[in-house]
Amino acid sequence: MKSNIFKIIGALVLLAIGVVLGKFVFKAPKESTTPMPSGLGYRTTGTTGDTLEIHSVSYDGQIIEVRQGGSIQEAVESAHSGDLIRVFPGTYSENVFIDKNNIALQGVVIDGQWPTLDGKKEINDAILYSGDGILVENFKIINYKGNGIMGQAGNNFVIRNNWIIDTGVYGIFPQYGKNGLIEHNVCSKIADAAIYVGMCDNVDVLHNEVFDNVAGIEIENSRHCLVENNYAHNNTGGLLAFVTPGLPIKTAFDIILRNNFVVNNNHENFGAPGSTVAGIPAGTGILIMAADDVIVENNIITGNDNTGITIVDLATGDPKANDPNSEGNPDRVIILDNMMYNNGENPTGEIKAIMLTQMDSKGPDIFAYGGGTGSTIRDKNRYRTFGIDDWGQAPITDTRDVRTYRLPEPVPIKEVTPEELGELTYYGVCAGCHAWGTRLIGPRTNIIQAIHKGNPQGIVDYITNPKNLREDFPEMPPQDYLSEEAKMAVAEYILAMKE
Ligand code: HEC
Repeated sequence: MKSNIFKIIGALVLLAIGVVLGKFVFKAPKESTTPMPSGLGYRTTGTTGDTLEIHSVSYDGQIIEVRQGGSIQEAVESAHSGDLIRVFPGTYSENVFIDKNNIALQGVVIDGQWPTLDGKKEINDAILYSGDGILVENFKIINYKGNGIMGQAGNNFVIRNNWIIDTGVYGIFPQYGKNGLIEHNVCSKIADAAIYVGMCDNVDVLHNEVFDNVAGIEIENSRHCLVENNYAHNNTGGLLAFVTPGLPIKTAFDIILRNNFVVNNNHENFGAPGSTVAGIPAGTGILIMAADDVIVENNIITGNDNTGITIVDLATGDPKANDPNSEGNPDRVIILDNMMYNNGENPTGEIKAIMLTQMDSKGPDIFAYGGGTGSTIRDKNRYRTFGIDDWGQAPITDTRDVRTYRLPEPVPIKEVTPEELGELTYYGVCAGCHAWGTRLIGPRTNIIQAIHKGNPQGIVDYITNPKNLREDFPEMPPQDYLSEEAKMAVAEYILAMKE
């Protein structure tokens, strides 16, 4: 017990140092000295002294400056691959759409004044990108209705050092992208996931703070993701790794949740009724649903009123889900050493009922329920647990040899043929809200197919200028920024889908 207290004190001191450092770093100097962001991602490590080198995109083209009164979108339109767009402090109320490759969008912070994208609760999205090699850094993004920053099949992305507050459904949402970095962002008041890595591969999510959201950091239908050094507090659920059924990418595996603070995630759930996250019970520290090979290591997980870590299968966690092609069990989860205390103080719903059958009025640190095989833990006796009696001894002690899941070289720029355009648009844009047999934010894709059978133009017209048709769904944001070809291609793709 004594050593635990020392560890807690140590952790608090570290946190305090982190906060002080954070303040220091965020306090901007008189003139921004942010250098040209070439050679991003180079970092050294303290553990072994050797160097971890990642070759990222370099921006060695023109510098385009945007100042208060100017338009970021116009700058994007005049930019070429390799250009750096620098946005000076001021308020910009626009939707920026980047469909070019290798563009850096960099806010310039002067005297504590940030360039601010303000959607005024009228505009849907702040920044959408479909190009590869996009960098977005140093922006304050507030009051949008849809997304703060959304990637639509863009690879080699870097999103960092942004504040994203009250931007609707998702804060930072790369969808269907490979090789990305999301770091040093602060995201708050997001009605679904603050940071949502959806159908991606090889993404690092590092040093972010997420609070007052429904879901803090969500790794969904994604593989090879490292979630490290983040601070997730006061969300409904802190860190989540799961499979949403009905999406074109069916699996989530090889995910490391390491060195995070997961604290007091007890926020009332304000997710859209019917959405997946609306089912997350308040008080969830970490949720692993149907994802495989998830490693939970060295996190401080405390004050989460329901459970510290919940591990469930789809049949339990999302019983309405109906996708015969999604394997719904969480397999081979590994729990290494974590610090967990004061979790489960006020359990609710099913967990409360199940714990009462155990004569326990508190929720556990670790709660596992439903199917799944091969899961292991390093030291079972450290925690209050439910449902892991049959778990074996963890086969590893730590993950220190995994330093990043980003790729050593950027993936080659994608070439999209007309045949692929429909699929890519569906994966990159629509699948964030529509799934085949499952309700997400929008109605099921098989329903859309039935309504518009034989009439692709009907879909094109709707997505260009959507109307609110259903009382129990929100309004769909217009997708009018998409090209005419992309709209028709995606309509035809949906009508031909067989799941
Ligand atoms: C941010 C979430 C979101 C995204 C992204 C999205 N939709 Fe929707 N969509 C909705 C919602 C919500 C509705 C239901 C609106 C209603 O019924 O009032 C909807 C409804 C629809 C409908 C109407 C079906 C009918 O009843 O006629 C079609 C067609 C559609 N979406 C197609 C698409 C396509 C194609 C894409 C991708 C290009 C897409 N949507 C992207 C949320 C979204």
